[in-house]
Amino acid sequence: MKRNLLSISDLDGREIAQLIERAMLKKQVRREDALSGMTLALIFEKPSLRTKVSFDLAMYQMGGHAVYLSPDEVGLGRRESVSDVSRVLGRYFDGIAARTFSHETLLTLAAHSSVPVINALSDLEHPCQALSDLLTIYEKKGKLSGLTVAFVGDGNNVANSLFLAAMLTGVNFNIASPPGYEINQGILKSGQEFAVSSGSRIKLTDAPDEAVKGADVVYTDVWISMGYEGEADQRRQVFSAYRVDEELLDLAKADVLFMHPLPAHQGEEISNNLLEDPRSVVFDQAENRLHLQKSLLAMMLLQ
Ligand code: NVA
Repeated sequence: MKRNLLSISDLDGREIAQLIERAMLKKQVRREDALSGMTLALIFEKPSLRTKVSFDLAMYQMGGHAVYLSPDEVGLGRRESVSDVSRVLGRYFDGIAARTFSHETLLTLAAHSSVPVINALSDLEHPCQALSDLLTIYEKKGKLSGLTVAFVGDGNNVANSLFLAAMLTGVNFNIASPPGYEINQGILKSGQEFAVSSGSRIKLTDAPDEAVKGADVVYTDVWISMGYEGEADQRRQVFSAYRVDEELLDLAKADVLFMHPLPAHQGEEISNNLLEDPRSVVFDQAENRLHLQKSLLAMMLLQ
C-alpha cells in the first residue's frame, strides 16, 4: 500500500524510534545499494539547501537517483495543474518529495500520486526536519522520553512538526510565542491527544524565560519563514523580545542543546555568536538531515 509522509503524525512513536535507530546505522555506512535503480522526484516551489542536498545525496549514496525540478521549470499549478503533474511524475518515479507554499498543494499532489509523497516543507509542517532533530537529540542525550524541548518564537511549520514529534515520543514541549503566532490549533489538538498515551507535557506561554527554564533543548527558527516576506517589518517588531541569546540559554539546564534548522539570522532570532556557543549543535543537526533522509527513503520507497 502506498504511504505518504505529509505530517509527522503519519508515523507513530514506534516508527519514529525505528527511523532514528536505522539512521544511526546508516550513519556508519557511506555507500549501499538498498535503493539501487530507484528514483525520486524533488519538486520544489521554494528555495532549499539542506533538504534538497540531503535527499539528492541520500538517493545517490543508496544506489538510486534524484531529479530536481525547480519552480520555474514546472510551474506547479500555473503551467500545469498540480493533479496532472502528480499523475505524470508517478509514471516515472518511485517517490516524490515536494516543498510547497501551501499545504493544500501537497495534499493535492498526494491525492493524485500513484507513488509515495514526502513533505519536504509546507507552510504547515516540516516533518523531515523534526525527525532528524529527534535523531540529534537522541544521539546527544541517549533518550527522548522525559526530556523537555523549549521552542522560542514563531509557531510555524518547524514548530508544528517538532511539537507533534515530541508528543508522539514522550518528549515534553514548552513553547513561547507572541499572541497571534502560536502553533496551529488543529495540530495542538492532535498533539494533546497523542500526549494522553505518550505522557508528554505541554506548556504554552508568551514568555521565553518561562519556556526555557530547566529545558534540555532550546530551539528557535526564523521570524520570517519563506512565503511571509511581505510581513517582514511587522514580524521583526512582534518577535523582537523572542531573540535567543546566551543569557536565555543560561536559564535552561547546564547541558542544554541549542538547536536551529537553519538558515539562521544572527542579530535577529539569535544573538551574534550563538552558533559558535559550545551548547550549539546546529551543524550536527544539519548533517543528520542526510542520515535520517536515508532511513526515511528506505522506509517509504521499499514499502
Ligand atoms: N520556517 C522556515 C524553515 C526553513 C527550513 C521556513 O519555512 O522558511
